[in-house]
Amino acid sequence: MKYFFRLFLLAFSVAFLYGCEPNSETHSSDSDSDMSTSTSEAPRDVHSHAVPEIAHVSHLDLDIAVDFETKTITGRASYDLVLADGATEIVLDARDLSIQGVTAGGNDSSDSLAFAMGETSDPIKGTSLTIQLAEGTERINVFYQTSPEAAALQWLSPSQTAGKEQPFLFTQGQAILTRTWLPCQDGPGMRFTYDARVTVPSNLMAVMSATNPTERNDQGVYEFEMAQPIPAYLMALSVGDLEFAPIGEQTGVYAEPSVLEAAVYEFGDMEKMLVSAEELYGPYRWERYDVIVLPPSFPFGGMENPRLTFATPTILAGDRSLTSLIAHELAHSWSGNLVTNATWDDFWLNEGFTVYFERRIMEKLYGESYVKMLAMLGHQDLDHTLKELGTDSKDTHLKLDLIGRDPDEGMTDIAYEKGYFLLTHIENSIGREAFDAFLRQYFDENAFTTMTTEDFIQYVDENLVKGDEALKAELALEKWIYAPGLPAGFEAPYSDRFEKVDAELASWTGGTAAKDLAGTGEWSTHEWLHFIRKLPAGLSGDQMADLDGAFGLTASGNSEIQAAWFEHVIRNQYEAGYASLEAFLIRVGRRKFLKPLYTTLAETESGKEMGRDIYAKARSGYHSVSVGTIDEILDYN
Ligand code: BES
Ligand code: ZN
Repeated sequence: MKYFFRLFLLAFSVAFLYGCEPNSETHSSDSDSDMSTSTSEAPRDVHSHAVPEIAHVSHLDLDIAVDFETKTITGRASYDLVLADGATEIVLDARDLSIQGVTAGGNDSSDSLAFAMGETSDPIKGTSLTIQLAEGTERINVFYQTSPEAAALQWLSPSQTAGKEQPFLFTQGQAILTRTWLPCQDGPGMRFTYDARVTVPSNLMAVMSATNPTERNDQGVYEFEMAQPIPAYLMALSVGDLEFAPIGEQTGVYAEPSVLEAAVYEFGDMEKMLVSAEELYGPYRWERYDVIVLPPSFPFGGMENPRLTFATPTILAGDRSLTSLIAHELAHSWSGNLVTNATWDDFWLNEGFTVYFERRIMEKLYGESYVKMLAMLGHQDLDHTLKELGTDSKDTHLKLDLIGRDPDEGMTDIAYEKGYFLLTHIENSIGREAFDAFLRQYFDENAFTTMTTEDFIQYVDENLVKGDEALKAELALEKWIYAPGLPAGFEAPYSDRFEKVDAELASWTGGTAAKDLAGTGEWSTHEWLHFIRKLPAGLSGDQMADLDGAFGLTASGNSEIQAAWFEHVIRNQYEAGYASLEAFLIRVGRRKFLKPLYTTLAETESGKEMGRDIYAKARSGYHSVSVGTIDEILDYN
């Protein structure tokens, strides 16, 4: 009791100093009135409880054990601190963590520190973990355990893996989930280096967003180092029956043994991608670049964990046709991991830049006509999202306003595709050569720092516009960034390869049998996607069977093609596709596929019923990120 009173007094005096209330909730969601927004360097991150200008972590030293029986991670997290004059406490983020004790000094110190969790825990933001510091405290140790429900963690049973014999664990930190497996200052604007020691069952291997082992060891103890400062959302860990195979000198792949060979083939161009990326925008600053192929429940296509991209196995198409995803995650090694969005409101700085960079890499490797197809598919996605959100919606601004919301809500195609089109618009205005020089300088000068949207506008002003009012007017950055939809005069991309697809489609709708369509033989996955997306509504059973019979769409080994086709399967009640649809929804947890499929199912009463039946079987196999989205679509709980 006495302790809490003391804490209250302290919190109150801190709050008094900064003009906000002691309650951590109001503290972190009070936006414009606090002191940090008055300086342009440190915008208030409304999704973190941390007060980094008073106390922040510069280095993390982690010693944890992974227990598959109890589905928990237990251990010690030690932090080197940087304190402002007079700082008496440090605030970390925590959600569903149990804190067993806090000490000051070396690992074995018995010098206990007082700590307290916030009074309430927000379901999204979690709670603050406030630790009282003695004069001169430079290092603290937090002893903690995760909950089996930790939202970042997915504990897979052997049946959910390729090998079916060993369990698997992976983490997903972005946007604000790292706090569910590690107490940390969990905002993209705060960076730290780390090292870690991770103990796992001796038949499994552990890998992290850090230096990685290439061999299993008998003790099940693995050591890691990340020497470059990263934000908490890039902390990552995977544990499973893993093997490593090199691809190039600096690149390689981790996967379960039965998946490894396919992955090595699929990612055969990875080293070339890395070389191309460096030619475009300067040195790769993370030494190695490897990819781990996770089990199919991974909720994303890819996650740019530094040095080790986490990837879905659904890009293993057998023909390298879905590897723009690897180019994308690799590009994040510059846009995102090196120059990081300061808050989640600035998310487009991560993703819009990365889509642009991804397509430049793909252009270097596979040519302009390939990228035109990617851009057109991206534009179709953007169109769809604009319709879904409504063209007046503030969520279609590039600069978001996520106060009081889950940052996940802002992570739409707007950031990716509208962001991409803004960058191509700048490129078109000033020419490719000038824009490339600008981007290279942007990455060099801002490496290992964070960027707000406003910083970016200023950077463009100082380095590109330089007083040229005509150029400033032409760029119209404010319009792109702070207004909804796409600016007037926007020119949609065009692909002549897709024009040929349109011609075949017209021939089919005009009555030519699918097997007689002459031009489809040479089509890549992207042409097929365009064809399937553009199929008219209201196809008959015979028409569906005609397409399926000629092109084997239901049984396609390509997940993108299958997912696009299944939307028609649902809309046209093509029963021959149902079993395959169900199997897909049970096996794959990638949200990008699940969301449109369950949404389409939910459009009719009978579809919704079918969706709910499938979901009842599939749900326990999905990661929390996907569960949250699908629960809402199906009103399921
Ligand atoms: N960083 C994202 C994944 C992400 C975004 C995770 C927001 C959590 C919150 C990653 O780089 C990404 O964009 N992945 C895409 C693939 C990409 C090719 C567009 C995905 O997972 O679909
Ligand atoms: Zn991305």
